[in-house]
Amino acid sequence: MNRMLRIIALTAPFVGAATAHCAEGTIDFKRDIQPLFERRCYECHGPQKQKSGLRFDQKSVAFGSADSGKPAVVAGKSAESTLIRRVTSSNADEVMPAKGERLTTAEIDLLKRWIDQGAAWPEDAAAQKKHWAYEKPVRPELPAVRKKSWPRNPIDFFVLARLEKEKLKPSPEADRAVLLRRVSLDLTGLPPTLDEVEAFLADKSPDAYEKAVDRLLASLAYGERWARPWLDLARYADTQGYEKDNRRSIWPYRDWVINALNRNLPFDQFTIEQLAGDMLPNATQDQKVATGFHRNTMTNTEGGTDNEEFRYEAVVDRINTTFAAWMGSTMACAQCHNHKYDPFTTVEYYRIMAFFNNTEDADYDDERPTARVFKPGQEDKLNRLRDAERAAEKKLNDAVDTPEFATTLADWEAKLETEKSTWETLDPAEFKSEAGSTLRKNNTKSIIAEGENPSNDTYVVTAPIGGGRYQGIRLEVLEMGPEKALGRHTNGGFVLRSFELSVTPQGGDGAKPVEWKSVTADFSEKNFEVTNVISGKGDGWAVATTKPENRVRRSAYFELKEPIDLPEGGNLTFALKHSDKHPGANIRRFRLYVTKS
Ligand code: HEC
Ligand code: HEC
Repeated sequence: MNRMLRIIALTAPFVGAATAHCAEGTIDFKRDIQPLFERRCYECHGPQKQKSGLRFDQKSVAFGSADSGKPAVVAGKSAESTLIRRVTSSNADEVMPAKGERLTTAEIDLLKRWIDQGAAWPEDAAAQKKHWAYEKPVRPELPAVRKKSWPRNPIDFFVLARLEKEKLKPSPEADRAVLLRRVSLDLTGLPPTLDEVEAFLADKSPDAYEKAVDRLLASLAYGERWARPWLDLARYADTQGYEKDNRRSIWPYRDWVINALNRNLPFDQFTIEQLAGDMLPNATQDQKVATGFHRNTMTNTEGGTDNEEFRYEAVVDRINTTFAAWMGSTMACAQCHNHKYDPFTTVEYYRIMAFFNNTEDADYDDERPTARVFKPGQEDKLNRLRDAERAAEKKLNDAVDTPEFATTLADWEAKLETEKSTWETLDPAEFKSEAGSTLRKNNTKSIIAEGENPSNDTYVVTAPIGGGRYQGIRLEVLEMGPEKALGRHTNGGFVLRSFELSVTPQGGDGAKPVEWKSVTADFSEKNFEVTNVISGKGDGWAVATTKPENRVRRSAYFELKEPIDLPEGGNLTFALKHSDKHPGANIRRFRLYVTKS
């Protein structure tokens, strides 16, 4: 307040008072010149605008070259200073100020003499009038009060002085239960319990209130209550912020803030750890978690967004939030132009950006890089398990590295090869669809369904076989087309409801149905097990090919209850029935095999 009054006193009655006073003596920049600049020139040559590249709130600029290439102020030489030329000019297009009244002769005289005396511009001359928020706070004198017995602490003096000024009396003191309720709500956000109220009322010791405060400060709820305003400043959330607003797991940072308050971490340390805890020597897990402060920026996972754009937005947010949270300042404005009111320039803004613009995160959907946060003891346990895993792996690899293993492996591979070759491909002689698909056979003996794709079609296929004792049947479903579909459903899949077989021996009398013992497949969709085909359960056996890893041929292997014994050979007739719950999910291409092994 004092300072404001002084400035007004200097600027308003400037002309008369100040010139009279200064006519003889030395010109004082802060007292005589700066207020004149501020009043008549700053509007166009100050913190907000710099017409012709000139500003009179910065010494170096005022003394340096303006856009014309000439300096406004040449110390000791008013005749060479464009400032004087412009304020004295008789050319209406040239005279300064470019707006409003001309400077008075007294003001011009003051400027001339200041320059001729050497244009002293003390270093501590503030760049511009400071806002009170930029003044160092000074403890004021306690105001005088009449009712001297009332105040108990310095703040009371201010309250009472104002009350007395308004001719008001203080309210009577609240009762103790009310006091406890107020302090409990203030410190923990929770009202006191009945027991706490009773204990407090019963405690007649002089420091009963201090004890209650200590109890509240020591409670966990204290940190929870006071973490909230800080978490708001830290833009803490459990989701990513933009569009889908996916989940984000960053609560260890939230707990860090609560803990920091509960363990009374000093504010400087609280600041250092949140802004750069990871850069402290031998940073602890806790100090790294503290830097979660600046991982609370939003991540945009919407399709088509540009990662670099939103990485940049996050950096801008970090600058703005740092200044909003710690300085209570709108640094944000300087992203686009020098701050119009506060002493921040755009250059400074981007210097600070350089500090924040080197983190690894870059708006990735998975929010990497992320860190695992361990509870006490968990990390050691994990390390022990990892060691054990490595040891087990080594043991296994050592065992593999022996001649015995090589021989066993070769034998096993050879056996697989012979077993594979015992599958005999059937060559269907007849094949038809009951519901209207068109079936054709190609030169690899596979049957292909084309044309119409009716619901739950049944394919009936008859193939001749030679004499022998057959133990098993294999149904192979083959991928087709560029999309590698296995079925004719829109998802490229099929659902087979049942697979039936009947046998007609050579010269025999009619077809006999065959019973299955078991079936396995090299792949089944979840809840669409191949066993459904013989048990009748569920919807049947399905493979959908939307996932690229499923776009490969799949086989179902049927074991017979009794072998098919055909000394003279005969005919096998298969019926492949599709599910009526999944219209159009008919097999697209398949091949049939028999085996005697
Ligand atoms: C309303 C806006 C306005 C105010 C107020 C104003 N100026 Fe200017 N000033 C301008 C503009 C616009 C220019 C550039 C055009 C020109 O040179 O006339 C300029 C240019 C100048 C230049 C020449 C810079 C160069 O390129 O060499 C000087 C010196 C100057 N002003 C001094 C002053 C002084 C001293 C004051 C206060 C007493 C003042 N001006 C107040 C708008 C203003
Ligand atoms: C995203 C860019 C951006 C941000 C952030 C921004 N501004 Fe601006 N501001 C502009 C633009 C562009 C103009 C118009 C051009 C100019 O006057 O420089 C402007 C003009 C202004 C003007 C009028 C200036 C004049 O000389 O007439 C004021 C006042 C202003 N802004 C204040 C602010 C304040 C205060 C903030 C922060 C709370 C802020 N701006 C944040 C872009 C921005």
